[in-house]
Amino acid sequence: MSDSLAATDPGTRLAALRPRLADHGQEHVLRFWDELDDTERGILLDELEALDLERLATMVAEVTGRTAAATAPALEPAALIELGDSAAHRQRDAEAREVGESLLRAGKVAAFLVAGGQGTRLGYDGPKGRFPVGPVTGRSLFAYHSHRVLAACRRYDAELPYFVMTSRANHDDTVAAFHEAGFFGLDPDLVTFLTQGMLPAVDRDGRLLLAERGRLALSPDGHGGCFTALERSGALDDMARRGIEQVFYFQVDNPLAQVFDPVFIGHHALAGAEMSTKVVPKSEPGEKVGVLGLIDGALGVIEYSDLDPALAAERDDEGRLRFRAGNIAIHMIALSFIRRLLSGGLSLPVHRADKQVPSVAPDGTTTAPSEPNAIKLEMFVFDALPLAARAVTQEVRREDEFAPVKNAGGPDSPATARDLLVGQARRWLAAAGLSVPDGPLEVGPLFALDQDEFVANLVRGDVGPIYDRA
Ligand code: UD1
Repeated sequence: MSDSLAATDPGTRLAALRPRLADHGQEHVLRFWDELDDTERGILLDELEALDLERLATMVAEVTGRTAAATAPALEPAALIELGDSAAHRQRDAEAREVGESLLRAGKVAAFLVAGGQGTRLGYDGPKGRFPVGPVTGRSLFAYHSHRVLAACRRYDAELPYFVMTSRANHDDTVAAFHEAGFFGLDPDLVTFLTQGMLPAVDRDGRLLLAERGRLALSPDGHGGCFTALERSGALDDMARRGIEQVFYFQVDNPLAQVFDPVFIGHHALAGAEMSTKVVPKSEPGEKVGVLGLIDGALGVIEYSDLDPALAAERDDEGRLRFRAGNIAIHMIALSFIRRLLSGGLSLPVHRADKQVPSVAPDGTTTAPSEPNAIKLEMFVFDALPLAARAVTQEVRREDEFAPVKNAGGPDSPATARDLLVGQARRWLAAAGLSVPDGPLEVGPLFALDQDEFVANLVRGDVGPIYDRA
């Protein structure tokens, strides 16, 4: 919305909007206009003016008109930088580490945490980053990530900036979490919050839904909204001013995300890649992770719901799953690539999720549907992969890098994430030649970012449940 519009009186704004809404068959959102007070009218006008009705119509047509393709796309496994312990593997990774470390020392990499999701599956009241996942101290997801950023700043003696993407619903609470924790020890000047965009929910006919009489039903536009959010917020220019060349992208839900992993940064840089991805070997054919693969020849993510179970179960000559490259949603993205995407008028494909969205009926009553009544629209960051001129996919050890907190119980839950965190601490203690005590253990990222650092920092004989530093 432009300042001049904001300054205009509601009647004039309404008069400008009404024909545009009518042209797009969306005039019903003004049904309760006469009953709204001035504040409510202002909010509704703001929401409507922020909508790109043409783009919305295209998106709705894209998701509702999409029918099963006459021929399913040809799927092939992605080429991987494979895991391995041979001397050649170690040499390869050592070279990458050197390149990654020099980029970090030169302060050319920024961390980018996406934390705008609604976390509905976890059922936690508040931003997911506040969730206490530390097995002993209840350290939050935000604390794990922020301590890794701080530990990297210390290790590489560099001011590595940290960008945190929120969404409208969790922005204030996210910022508050950082303030309450004294920015987890980070220099606040290095931390920038940016808010992602919103997209409206529509019914099956593409008509906008009202969450209240004077409010649209809006939800975050998906992590694919991050590119536009980086530009709109000024974060991209800020990165450029700070000399950033590469962005380390990761999700809030994984306390084992190795933020600023120099080996990954190095492989990406050595290949001259525009966007790279970390993957772990899938635990079983049905595991609910996307798989990196070639889709009609172009690298992309095949979501688990789109992978034919027969293909998902296929094995290679060594007995490994052919489509085993499980996406852990950690990417390196070149700043120049983000600029290139945006300058071409970025248009990532839109995805559809059928959801139950409480909405106001024509008679003014609000109904909470028992069946999906609404289409939510979302964009995914990995849909930028096929647009990258070069891309690297690196396979990493899942037990060291992937402990997703998605569901309240069962797989990918706080309980499984804590087991993985404790498991890593046990392995590191064993590597130090110490006997491993029973019960939960917790290693803070400021104590050690990896096994070698853990062993080096351990005071012999000092075996307890918590290994941490301020
Ligand atoms: C995602 C990936 C999947 C991958 C898995 C690994 C998608 C569609 N799939 O699944 O391929 O194997 O992670 O854990 O993403 N977020 C935002 N804004 C939004 C929506 C999400 O910032 O509008 C953030 C969330 O805060 C979270 C992350 O993106 O950090 C993941 O979102 P989520 O919807 O939970 O993805 P998954 O379905 O778990």
